[in-house]
Amino acid sequence: MSNDISNYNNWLDAWNDFYEKEKELVELDPNAALVSSVDAEGNPNARVILIKDVSNKGFVFYTNYQSQKGKELFHNNKGHLTWYSRTQGVSIRIQGEVQKIDASISDNYFASRDRNAQISASISKQSETVESREVLDVEFKKFADDYEGKEIPRPDHWGGIVIQPEKVEVWKSRDDYKTRLHDRIVFTLSNDQWIKSRLYP
Ligand SMILES: Cc1cc2nc3c(=O)[nH]c(=O)nc-3n(C[C@H](O)[C@H](O)[C@H](O)COP(=O)(O)O)c2cc1C
Repeated sequence: MSNDISNYNNWLDAWNDFYEKEKELVELDPNAALVSSVDAEGNPNARVILIKDVSNKGFVFYTNYQSQKGKELFHNNKGHLTWYSRTQGVSIRIQGEVQKIDASISDNYFASRDRNAQISASISKQSETVESREVLDVEFKKFADDYEGKEIPRPDHWGGIVIQPEKVEVWKSRDDYKTRLHDRIVFTLSNDQWIKSRLYP
């Protein structure tokens, strides 16, 4: 890992270094991040998701396409993701276009999931009001009984979303934390070229 984040020539190397380190340092959910969106009236929303894949094509997570986040992200096809490492003093922020990933990739990932998670994804009308916990449990049991001994197909409403970066900011705290003069490097896509700049902290 580079001590000076301005040595990174691309955001993917920075992500890979900090995320690999995070997996060594943090046992539970090192891939947790916030995904932010804006609704049709301009109200912001953010919620925690788990990042499942990162490549130069972007950051992938899985969700219900008809959830509030699904509706908002596809309303203007823009999204934002914030990943934070308390242990390393790093945040990585990604702004970009959103797309559904290929159905075949979502199929494979869905098939790899725990059966109970497959059932939950199938019955959940994510973000809609549910009358009670009991209703949820009854729906779960009914689905589990109906599909006993059968493969559960990926529901159309559930799959991967990729946020394709147009701007990625890497923020890293300095050892002299109290000065608050931390490092901020931003990679911005302009005419198919990534431009690297430093920002005031
Ligand atoms: C640690 C953690 C991980 C989560 N991972 C996911 C996830 O990968 N996908 C998802 O749809 N929701 C995930 N959730 C639930 C979301 O935070 C959120 O409650 C849900 O997706 C509904 O959001 P929405 O109503 O804004 O669409 C996670 C929550 C936590 C606390």
